[in-house]
Amino acid sequence: MNFQLSEEHEMIRKMVRDFAENEVAPTAASRDEEERFDRNIFNKMAELGLTGIPWPEEYGGIGSDYLAYCIAVEELSRVCASTGVTISAHTSLAGWPIYKFGSEEQKQKYLKPMAQGEKIGAYGLTEPGSGSDAGGMKTTARLEGNHYILNGSKIFITNGGEAEIYVVFALTDPSNKHKGTTAFIVESNYEGFSVGKKEKKLGIRSSPTTEIIFEECKVPVENVLGEVGEGFKIAMMTLDGGRNGIAAQAVGIAQGALDAATAYAKERVQFGKPIATQQGIGFKLADMATSVEAARLLTYQAAWLESAGLPYGKESAMSKLFAGDAAMRVTTEAVQVFGGYGYTKDYPVERYMRDAKITQIYEGTQEIQRLVISRMITK
Ligand code: CAA
Repeated sequence: MNFQLSEEHEMIRKMVRDFAENEVAPTAASRDEEERFDRNIFNKMAELGLTGIPWPEEYGGIGSDYLAYCIAVEELSRVCASTGVTISAHTSLAGWPIYKFGSEEQKQKYLKPMAQGEKIGAYGLTEPGSGSDAGGMKTTARLEGNHYILNGSKIFITNGGEAEIYVVFALTDPSNKHKGTTAFIVESNYEGFSVGKKEKKLGIRSSPTTEIIFEECKVPVENVLGEVGEGFKIAMMTLDGGRNGIAAQAVGIAQGALDAATAYAKERVQFGKPIATQQGIGFKLADMATSVEAARLLTYQAAWLESAGLPYGKESAMSKLFAGDAAMRVTTEAVQVFGGYGYTKDYPVERYMRDAKITQIYEGTQEIQRLVISRMITK
């Protein structure tokens, strides 16, 4: 057993960290304040190959693996969780199902421009009436000649409005729930597709989250992803990997908060000495660092399993569960270390704390992760 990262992984970490610190961090607070997505940052990530890390070169990727992808999401999230989730949703929620279930034509037409960063991808599963109960969706797709006609709406879509390519799920046979669900690739310029309400959020405010609406939306039959009726399985399998991307985001947020709190605690003098040397704060930092490390190990393990072609669904749910809770705990403690200053926008820790919360909610709440894990260990 070897816990040392390979040279390639270390190189990717260094490259992404330099990029994140120089190009992403300087505007993280203002983009958060203004709820502003910056396509230029996405374009620059594309130049570095960060928009297609695990995909083979023939599909526009850099031919690396899921561990490299997690390291990149972690490093981006260490300075800006919104930028981290942009890449995470683009890669593991939109790119992955096309890579795994797409035809060669679909991969060339959709995965390649996404991997090259010419187009942004998004994933549409959640609806106003179906969040945790994903199988309760109402969006329908009826076959008419060479097209499926989609009707309904999806909410909480990460990259909504900015994305050109959406992997969405709809009922082709409403009487058959799970087995009547089909996955589709929908382009934003299709007739009957529109972007609805943009959410105003507590955190990840520079990552757009919108509703998407289908009103007699015409989707060519060749845009069915996988088999008709296979959509629920595709949605679930996509989330199996996606959840580990969120775990990586949580690890990055927690590490960013820990770094800020540690630096502050070494400088801040109270009672005649730096607060880091006082046990109340020193022990807090120790607990925070231990949580981050444990979360990282679970996350890297799940990524390693996926890269090795081994089962990773349970481990991915575990990493998201543990890392999401760790991020919330560590960022809350980071605010505590900063005291009153931490509660202000003069320091980044309040943003980390707001950003951490979503990692306990999206791509399956912590309660759903427990459901997935308990089903897997008892079946
Ligand atoms: N892999 C393959 N197949 C799977 C699977 C998986 N991981 N999970 C379930 N299935 C299959 C089952 O085997 C079953 O197939 P059969 O009928 O052939 O046996 C079928 O799917 C139905 O499975 P369940 O009976 O387990 O389904 P359920 O209705 O009980 O739901 C659930 C299971 C785990 C609760 C699921 O609904 C779920 O994951 N809910 C949470 C949804 C979620 O995470 N949403 C987040 C959306 S994305 C997002 O957050 C936004 C963003 O952009 C970041």
